[in-house]
Amino acid sequence: MSHPTAVRFSFFAIAWSIATLGGVQVPAGAQSIELEQYDVQVNRLIARMTLAEKIGQMTQAEFSALEPGEIKRLALGSVLCGGNSDPQEGNAVGPWTEMYDSSQRQALETRLAIPLLFGVDAVHGHSNVLGAVIFPHNIALGCTRDAELVERVNRITAEEIRATGINWNFAPCVTVPRDIRWGRTYEGFSESPELVSQLGAAAVRGLQGSDLASPGSVLACAKHFVGDGGTQAEMRASSSFGDDVQLRLDQGDVVCDLGTLRRVHLPPYIPAIEAGVGSIMPSYSSWNGVKCSGHKQLLTDVLKIELGFQGFLISDYNAIDQITDDYKECIRVSCLAGMDMFMVPTRYREFTEKLTELVEEGAVPEERIDDAVRRILRVKAAMGLLDEGVDPLADRSWQSEFGSPERRAVARQAVRKSLVLLKNEGNVLPLAKENSRIVVAGKAADDLGIQCGGWTIDWQGKEGKVTTGGTTLLAGIRQAVAGSAQVDYTADANDIPQADVAIVVVGEKPYAEGLGDTGSLRLSAEDQQLIQRVQATGVPTVLVVLSGRPLVLGDALESSQSVVAAWLPGTEGAGVADVLFGDYAPTGKLSFTWPRTADQEPINVGDAEYDPEFKYGFGLTYGE
Ligand code: GLC
Repeated sequence: MSHPTAVRFSFFAIAWSIATLGGVQVPAGAQSIELEQYDVQVNRLIARMTLAEKIGQMTQAEFSALEPGEIKRLALGSVLCGGNSDPQEGNAVGPWTEMYDSSQRQALETRLAIPLLFGVDAVHGHSNVLGAVIFPHNIALGCTRDAELVERVNRITAEEIRATGINWNFAPCVTVPRDIRWGRTYEGFSESPELVSQLGAAAVRGLQGSDLASPGSVLACAKHFVGDGGTQAEMRASSSFGDDVQLRLDQGDVVCDLGTLRRVHLPPYIPAIEAGVGSIMPSYSSWNGVKCSGHKQLLTDVLKIELGFQGFLISDYNAIDQITDDYKECIRVSCLAGMDMFMVPTRYREFTEKLTELVEEGAVPEERIDDAVRRILRVKAAMGLLDEGVDPLADRSWQSEFGSPERRAVARQAVRKSLVLLKNEGNVLPLAKENSRIVVAGKAADDLGIQCGGWTIDWQGKEGKVTTGGTTLLAGIRQAVAGSAQVDYTADANDIPQADVAIVVVGEKPYAEGLGDTGSLRLSAEDQQLIQRVQATGVPTVLVVLSGRPLVLGDALESSQSVVAAWLPGTEGAGVADVLFGDYAPTGKLSFTWPRTADQEPINVGDAEYDPEFKYGFGLTYGE
């Protein structure tokens, strides 16, 4: 049975909604997707459910924290594998698929046999799993300005996820980062709400397809609602990532009026909802001091009533714990605010007990429980998971294309289109392929971990030769000029061979979330020394920057003949060589403002005072 999930808004209605977001409310009751069509079937099921079964559906546990048989005992509705959680039998397609199937089999043994939603953060390909194609992070995709490509990238991601059986992706991140000192900047497409709106909806279409029930589709999750990228920088003595006095943005407070929130941070959710997104994740951050995870006005009044979102809300990882000091109160506040499913990775037993108490005490009306379960089951129905005789186990036929050359070619195209040429003095680029001597310098040139960045195999990513397959920038350069030019490599430029041109690759070490918050956007001392050593030889220099955000290049900008922003390209580093040697001209345009100094942050297109190093939208091509 097909599951038509995207209702077609009239263009006018959507255009009007976005255009009037500046304060006039969007059409009340605007439906997101036809999820309500499943309510007859879902209400019949709810009528048969015990309170324990209902609360089980609202509970998401971390797979690695589960005791044997707990999915069945608690009739859990969902399981996740967080950024560092892999199958014990090894991080490959086979063990991931077995882990998924074993979890679903337990769910099928429960009284009502409601299949699980199994969620992962496949935020730039199925990036937890060895051998997957790993695409450029969203900051790079934003520089392509190519919604069709973003949809294709996410379609491939969905099919790589389904190769392991998994059916839910905590993506796309439709954040609008406004201060690039934030460690999650690279998860965002852009500082521009319009560009994020366009590409975020494309990502939803890619992941969910035209039918949530089709075998190659996964449930998408627009995150993190709302204003996650608008927090103000604070000096904090501690954070959830460690006790050190540092500049912090992650999980902080957005201090602004509702009009600003609507104008800057809300827009991407409208086209995402129109595209049919079935789940939305509220943000760890606060709005004017109130945690989004417990904010009724935002979660219920704005998102569910005003924007008409009919899917369900999933809390972030232990995010409800931050609402108050008392866990039971956290649950009460968040549930009444409109949270439907709770990501309580290791506290799931305590969660189910306390929510049951709250209902039995009358502190949480059973109507709210029924509404939450209805939203969850509507989505499962749209995914075909409530169909008579459904088989939710993995379809291993999807594994034949996993990490295929054809898919890597799409990732390589995305790399090419994401590169931004910031400087090209004397048209040093494109480089000649024949009869030239090229020296490549910098450990980042031969480090798959650096070029993939965070959320790669491990939550924080990892420097060095991550064990997943891929092509480093150096390997790509060597492939491009094999047999026609001499390529030498030096990791630290302590010994630099004679050369006609040097390609110096610098970059950030991998990070994710708050561990990437920084008060300094400067190149590391190691990278600055590397550049100086190479340029002391007098050789013309092409500087390639691998980073999750614009960096302050200092003297290197002046002393380098050419500068290319390559962001975090993922496994297909050969895409950089394609442009350096002119097989493809650079077409990328900055999706974020490039500041002169960190002190300029936050600085964004449209600011009254706007004098950055490179403006939003800047990007050269060859011959300019
Ligand atoms: C993380 C992130 C969120 C992710 C979730 C599950 O803390 O904030 O983006 O989806 O936990 O890993």
